[in-house]
Amino acid sequence: MSLNFTKINLAMNAAVECARQYVGATSPNPAVGAAALDHEGEIIAVAAHKHAGKLHAERELIELLTEMGRLSDCVTMVVTLEPCSHHGKTPPCADALEEQTQIKRVIYGQKDCNPLVGGKGHAKLVEAGKEVVCYEESPARDLEVLESVVRLNAPFFHWVRTGLPFVIVKVALNREGSMIPAAGQKTFTSNDSLVIAHILRRESGAIITGSGTVLADQPEFTVRHVPDHEDAPSRELVVLDRRGRVPDPKYRVGHDYLTELKRLGKQGVTQVLVEAGVSLTQAVFALGIWNESVIIRQAIINGEPDQIEIKTNVCFQESLNKQL
Ligand SMILES: NC(=O)c1ccc[n+]([C@@H]2O[C@H](COP(=O)([O-])OP(=O)(O)OC[C@H]3O[C@@H](n4cnc5c(N)ncnc54)[C@H](OP(=O)(O)O)[C@@H]3O)[C@@H](O)[C@H]2O)c1
Repeated sequence: MSLNFTKINLAMNAAVECARQYVGATSPNPAVGAAALDHEGEIIAVAAHKHAGKLHAERELIELLTEMGRLSDCVTMVVTLEPCSHHGKTPPCADALEEQTQIKRVIYGQKDCNPLVGGKGHAKLVEAGKEVVCYEESPARDLEVLESVVRLNAPFFHWVRTGLPFVIVKVALNREGSMIPAAGQKTFTSNDSLVIAHILRRESGAIITGSGTVLADQPEFTVRHVPDHEDAPSRELVVLDRRGRVPDPKYRVGHDYLTELKRLGKQGVTQVLVEAGVSLTQAVFALGIWNESVIIRQAIINGEPDQIEIKTNVCFQESLNKQL
């Protein structure tokens, strides 16, 4: 039984794609996906963790394979994150793999970043006689696939390390480079861009905006252009409003951006979206407390696609250290 990494890469990709559907529904747990492979390395099934408190991806997959009558065909399981070895809301996945399956090999994307549990799932599976590979550490890994694994795990890892949610700042710019829509309009981006924006909302446990935006647009911040999670934890709307100009009760009023992030992190929110106007967006960039920006530039020519630019803030830690 040799390792065919071309097939492993495909399986890891499928596991990531499956997990991505549930980003925003699993908080404070990470979104995790898993794929089952037969002895030829072909994918039999993929599954994901769907909601905190529900089965982890590995157990979802075991249930699915059992329903399909294919559990005994599964030789390799590919998982985006190291299987857990501790009792949380559900029992350890490493135990399920050992006790309920004949799986010979487990390949997982990254070691759990929590120093109390990282490496323990791996060790437990090795003890149980499985061949265990950490994809990130394997020389045969595909860098593009690894990047998608790292990105999938990034919000959870960030939250575990800092106690703060992973912050995505979304900015839409019109042809003239302005964030302000024309009078009477609330948006100027294409439908495809609105889909991206609404996926970002769906993935977030909270949306942070500024009082200027609420007063100008009375935005709902609902997920409309894609289906929302069925049983997601309710998404908190936070308005930073030091002067108390927003009377709308659907918002939680905050006065300080970092204080709100800390509060949300304590509540178990692992990812937030900043969807604000010029002033607050500039303030967040100046502070440097954000992880990823998604800049949507309106197409110059009508009918052409908008440009989407995604950037990672590599100076996050430095900026955070300045605030502490
Ligand atoms: N294109 C886009 O992506 C986009 C997205 C959202 C909104 N918009 C547009 O942006 C326009 C509104 O812009 P805006 O600048 O007035 O709204 P904003 O940035 O959403 O809100 C600004 C207000 O936030 C409050 N705030 C709290 N903490 C702050 C801080 N640290 N730094 C700066 N402000 C802070 C301030 O009021 P206090 O001093 O009272 O706290 C400030 O007046 C609207 O036309 C809206 O349509 C565009």
